[in-house]
Amino acid sequence: MDSNTWDQKYSTEEFIYTKVENRFVVELCKDLDGTNKRAIDLAGGEGRNSVWLAKRGWQVENIDFSEVALLKYLSFAKDEGVLENCSSNCADALSFTPLVTPVDLAVIAYLQIPENDLATAIERLSAHVVSGGTLMGVWHSRDNLEGGFGGPRDPQVLPNVETISQALAGTGLEIEVLENRDGQIQTKEGLKPSVTLVLLAKRPA
Ligand SMILES: C[S@@+](CC[C@H](N)C(=O)[O-])C[C@H]1O[C@@H](n2cnc3c(N)ncnc32)[C@H](O)[C@@H]1O
Repeated sequence: MDSNTWDQKYSTEEFIYTKVENRFVVELCKDLDGTNKRAIDLAGGEGRNSVWLAKRGWQVENIDFSEVALLKYLSFAKDEGVLENCSSNCADALSFTPLVTPVDLAVIAYLQIPENDLATAIERLSAHVVSGGTLMGVWHSRDNLEGGFGGPRDPQVLPNVETISQALAGTGLEIEVLENRDGQIQTKEGLKPSVTLVLLAKRPA
């Protein structure tokens, strides 16, 4: 989907991805101390994870190519009293230049784009992570096509352990966690299983 299509999708008062931080971002980032530290939330959309990080002290730059999403994010950050910790950068994940670099934490949540493009985005993002810094990722997994609920059904935009490992090769980051988890999707029939790929990688200090 291009940026205009995303802008259209976001052009509603409702928060499409809610204002609730993602549970895997919480699980894998909650023990990191954000005091006086910087983070990038790549493809951060309406900012549910950016705002959660900002509340934990991080200076967060949400980089997304949807101007509409970023305006909603800044308004959300203001309402939550953390606007001074939040910046936005309207740019493509394949060619962005952060406003501020390097960063101690880079988050990439549900950027479901073709395999080669995702590898480019991960490579670009990783280059801005300091020594001792962290890259955290979460995606609908390709393995979700077999019996899982929710997420895109096009395998091209669904990474798996192998494609993310390949994307990280050469970045200098060391993988600590790269595995499928049960993300669970709320449906009209109740909670259903959804295979979710999570990543935690660090640059050696
Ligand atoms: C599924 S939403 C996830 C938003 C957010 N990370 C979250 O978890 O709520 C995917 C986001 O990726 C952004 N996006 C998709 N392709 C992009 C690209 N090539 N460059 C920058 N942003 C992109 C969209 O605008 C959208 O906000």
